[in-house]
Amino acid sequence: MQQLKICFLGTGSMGSAVLQGLVAAGHPTKLISATTRSEESAAKLRAAGISALSLESSSDANELLSSDADVVVLGVKPYQIADVLTEIRSELPKDAVVISMAAGIELTTMAEKLPEHNNLIRSMPNTPALVGKGVTGLAAAPQAAPGAIEIATWLFEAVGEVVEVAEKQINALSAISGSGPAWMYFLVEKWEQVAIANGFTEEQAATLVRGTLAGSAQLLASTGEEPAELRRKVTSPGGTTERIIATLENAKLEQLFEAALQAAVARAKEIAGDKG
Ligand SMILES: NC(=O)c1ccc[n+]([C@@H]2O[C@H](COP(=O)([O-])OP(=O)(O)OC[C@H]3O[C@@H](n4cnc5c(N)ncnc54)[C@H](OP(=O)(O)O)[C@@H]3O)[C@@H](O)[C@H]2O)c1
Repeated sequence: MQQLKICFLGTGSMGSAVLQGLVAAGHPTKLISATTRSEESAAKLRAAGISALSLESSSDANELLSSDADVVVLGVKPYQIADVLTEIRSELPKDAVVISMAAGIELTTMAEKLPEHNNLIRSMPNTPALVGKGVTGLAAAPQAAPGAIEIATWLFEAVGEVVEVAEKQINALSAISGSGPAWMYFLVEKWEQVAIANGFTEEQAATLVRGTLAGSAQLLASTGEEPAELRRKVTSPGGTTERIIATLENAKLEQLFEAALQAAVARAKEIAGDKG
C-alpha cells in the first residue's frame, strides 16, 4: 500500500482530513496529489508539500492528476460527482480504485459515468477523521476486485475506524456516523443552554457539559463496559438521575432519534434521485 499513488479530487474539509491522516500515517507526500476549485486552496496544499492543482489555474486539473493514480478519492460535493467522473473517465487507469465520499451518490450512478472501471467504492467518513478518530462506512460495487475494498479500508484506517457494509445500509450509516458529530454537537448546545438557563455562566456551562462529555466518552472507551452498565453506576434507585432518565424515556427519545434518522435517509434518497 505504501507505493500507491493517491489522488484527491476536491480537497476541502473531508478530503483534507483524510489526506492529512494519510500523511501522518507516513504515506510519502510525493505519492499524493490533490485538486481544488480555487488557486488559494491549492497553494495551501502545495505549501504542505502536496502536488496540488486548482481548476481555477488548470481547467483539466482533475483529468491531469488522476491520469496515473492508483486510487482516486472524490471529495467534491455530491452534485459535482457526475461531472468530475465524466472529466476523468478517458484518462483514468482502468484498474484504479475510485472512492466517493459523497452523501447520497449511489454506486450505480458512479458506474454509469465510469462503465469501464470496476473498482468503485462508496465511503461515508465523518469529521473526527480530522483528529484521527473518524468512523468510516464503506460499500464496494459488486464488480469491484476484493483488493479494492482492502485499499479503501487501509486508506480510511489512517484516520480512524472502518465498518464495511452493504450499500443498502449506507444511507442509515450516513445518518448515524456521517452526520453523527452534528447530533452530538446539537446535544451539547442544548445541554449548555439548559445549564445557562439555570444560572451558570457560559464558561461554567461549557466546562460542565464538554468536560462531562469528554470524560464519559473516555470512560466508555477505556473500561469497555456497556453504556447501560455505566449509566446504572450513576443511577441510584430512587435518586435524582433516575428522574432524568425517566423524563427522557417519557419523551420517547428513541422514537425521536428514529424519526431523525429516517428524515436523513429520505433526503439521501432524494439526492440519489436527483443524481446529486
Ligand atoms: N463534511 C462532512 O462532514 C462530510 C462527511 C461525510 C461525507 N462528506 C462528503 O464529502 C464531500 C466533500 O464535503 P466537504 O464538507 O469536504 O466539502 P468542502 O469543504 O466544500 O470541499 C469541497 C472541495 O472540493 C473542491 N472543489 C470544488 N469544485 C471542484 C471541482 N470541480 N474539482 C475539484 N475540486 C473541486 C473545493 O475547492 P476549494 O477549496 O477551492 O473551494 C474543496 O476543496 C461531499 O460530497 C460530502 O457529501 C462530508
